[in-house]
Amino acid sequence: MNKPIRKAVLPVAGLGTRFLPATKAVPKEMLTIVDRPIIQYVVDEARAAGIEHIVFVTGRNKHVIEDHFDMAYELEDTLKARNKTAALELLEKHRPQPGSTSFTRQQAPLGLGHAIWCARDIIGNEPFAVLLPDVIIKSQVSCLKQMVDLYGQVGGNIIAVEEVPDDQTHNYGIVELAKEINGNASHISNMVEKPAPGTAPSNLMITGRYILQPEIFELLSHQGAGAGGEIQLTDSMLALMKEQPFASLKFEGRSYDCGNKPGFLSANIAFGMDDPKLAEELVPFMMEIIGRPLAAE
Ligand code: UTP
Repeated sequence: MNKPIRKAVLPVAGLGTRFLPATKAVPKEMLTIVDRPIIQYVVDEARAAGIEHIVFVTGRNKHVIEDHFDMAYELEDTLKARNKTAALELLEKHRPQPGSTSFTRQQAPLGLGHAIWCARDIIGNEPFAVLLPDVIIKSQVSCLKQMVDLYGQVGGNIIAVEEVPDDQTHNYGIVELAKEINGNASHISNMVEKPAPGTAPSNLMITGRYILQPEIFELLSHQGAGAGGEIQLTDSMLALMKEQPFASLKFEGRSYDCGNKPGFLSANIAFGMDDPKLAEELVPFMMEIIGRPLAAE
């Protein structure tokens, strides 16, 4: 019987330099997609997968994330006094249960692997999920829920993957597949970070959602700096792959990497189009913009 996935780690200690100056005082994870901060989509995905406890690995200037998931007494009292029931319900719906979140600090942004390692005491000796909070996924069923379902069948470690065009594989972490489990899931034999053009072992990119066994922490504690001088999660996952099974899941849905400008803007349009009232105004606007001749160089 596989131990259940009860906890998730959301590393939010990065500097968000690609969005400066916006991220000078506002964490990248608090930038909004339509009417919710990016991180709210990720927390909602985790909760829809049955996650009971979320560990945020934060850094300096990230305290508004903690405030966002707390009760806002003054605001809520005012809304109550004004009978704004719909707004109150909205706040309640998106707020985790008391005691179901933890915040720990990564004292210096030494890399994603180091950020995950900072959660080791709170996670303890049980398998857990990692959700990169700048990637949001639009799907019918929570992407993490799809992974938890696969984990229920095969156990081990699971990585979410998504197809990318062959000429784009050099921009991503790419998995090498071994034996197929079903149409969308396979065992993995290797992972390659940004393979040189023409050398990628598949066209499946690693999407920012993982289910990992707790033995990863021991490996992370010895992990030296890798690519970019940072302690990389991928390096420790490769070491763990020598000892434990890893599977990939081609999930139903589409990811948006909101850590870069094209992904962030695309997510705003894609999620905005879900609201029929917004779509009514957006479509003519986009037609008008696209119809316009490009500005002279
Ligand atoms: P990124 O490298 O995409 O995020 O890390 P970043 O460093 O914040 O952004 P840029 O590149 O400067 O614009 C992926 C995720 O890992 C977290 C980030 O917060 C982000 O959610 N991270 C990264 C940490 O928590 N700690 C780190 O040391 C590095």
